[in-house]
Amino acid sequence: MTSRNDELFDLSQKLIPGGVNSPVRAFRSVGGTPRFFAKGAGSRVWDADGKSYLDYVGSWGPLILGHADADVVRAVCDTAALGLSFGAPTEMELRMAEKLIEMLPSLEKLRLVSSGTEATMSAIRVARGYTGRDTLVKFEGCYHGHADSLLVKAGSGLLTFGQPARGESSSAGVPADCSGHTVVLDYNDIDQVNQLFEAKGDEIACIIVEAVAGNMNLIKPKPGFLECLRDNCTRHGAVLIFDEVMTGFRVGRGSVQGLYGITPDLTTLGKVIGGGLPVGAFGGKAEIMDKLAPLGPVYQAGTLSGNPVAVAAGLKTLEKISAPGFYEALTAKTERLCAGLNAAARDAGILACADSVGGMFGVYFRATPPTSYAEVMDSDKDGFNRFYHLMLHEGIYLAPSAFEAGFVSAAHADEDIDATIAAAARCFEKLGE
Ligand SMILES: Cc1ncc(COP(=O)(O)O)c(C=O)c1O
Repeated sequence: MTSRNDELFDLSQKLIPGGVNSPVRAFRSVGGTPRFFAKGAGSRVWDADGKSYLDYVGSWGPLILGHADADVVRAVCDTAALGLSFGAPTEMELRMAEKLIEMLPSLEKLRLVSSGTEATMSAIRVARGYTGRDTLVKFEGCYHGHADSLLVKAGSGLLTFGQPARGESSSAGVPADCSGHTVVLDYNDIDQVNQLFEAKGDEIACIIVEAVAGNMNLIKPKPGFLECLRDNCTRHGAVLIFDEVMTGFRVGRGSVQGLYGITPDLTTLGKVIGGGLPVGAFGGKAEIMDKLAPLGPVYQAGTLSGNPVAVAAGLKTLEKISAPGFYEALTAKTERLCAGLNAAARDAGILACADSVGGMFGVYFRATPPTSYAEVMDSDKDGFNRFYHLMLHEGIYLAPSAFEAGFVSAAHADEDIDATIAAAARCFEKLGE
């Protein structure tokens, strides 16, 4: 029987590079045909063949309320009827800024943009403009969008603490002059951070970090790691940027900064704050943000920044996740999922485990949750890929890569979690056969 997913993928590959508009969607890591989705409702999605799945991708994080939440959809439709875009200020943008500042006290001022990439790129520019320095520090395995200076992978050459190695971008098309100002360190390695700042502290414009990492699967910061970043930035006049595009209002009401009690100078946001439509934001200390045009010399702009329809979806989502008990319920549900996955793997004798922070989780094909990029890379990728396809067959849609985090939404019912654990138990059993 021909699958409509296969047909659509064949056609798409003729017109769109790799058949997809963002690379991980292409299933290259796990193999097979990506599912083309036709519909989503609550915790479920339906593919082009009409097969339904319990969804743990949630559009890669934004859908914290599940698919097509009725209140969000109504807010979008009501707002759209009043005009799709003005390219001029609207009251709703102000209300969105007020809400974000109320929820995240480190934000004194912020700007809305249309994607996480724009948020991180702009935060780095304003950090450089504010400090008058060029060097950017990031950590291997952390992803901050696809701006030139951020597409740099680690390699021993980049860790020399001398001149940053030049031209070692992980993407073709990035001039050495862009990537050459980026120094890449190992996530959770406090000694490396201290050594770099001791040697070059006065050249560093900023550190950008996924304070809880979610783009090399889920990795938590070791005790003292975030404190070390804060301390070095404060002592050397560098700007500490928490990239909370993924973790913002996903790991808890106060995001990572609230959970761990560390205040960054700038924060980048995306995903959840758009509720499924394109919204990003960057903000923080007023004295840094006031360097932006038209007040200051750092240029940043956007035709659709603060778009009313997108902001309507975001604002309604922020209102709903502010309800008392929202995060307690989401966290408990995600922890129950992970406990069930851990027990199922153990019972089947499979070397796999799961861990979570708030509504975000990781499944790892190794004995314990990883604490570094090297440990993540050391997991059993083939084991994950086999598990992935068995789960897909069971109607459970996980991110199609061993190196991505998963997301639970408020729409996932207890029965959904039970069904997922039961499916995983069957899949682990099959893996063990
Ligand atoms: C931590 C982080 N920063 C930035 C981005 C880029 O966001 P966008 O894909 O909206 O450009 C992502 C996307 O996954 C992300 O996870």
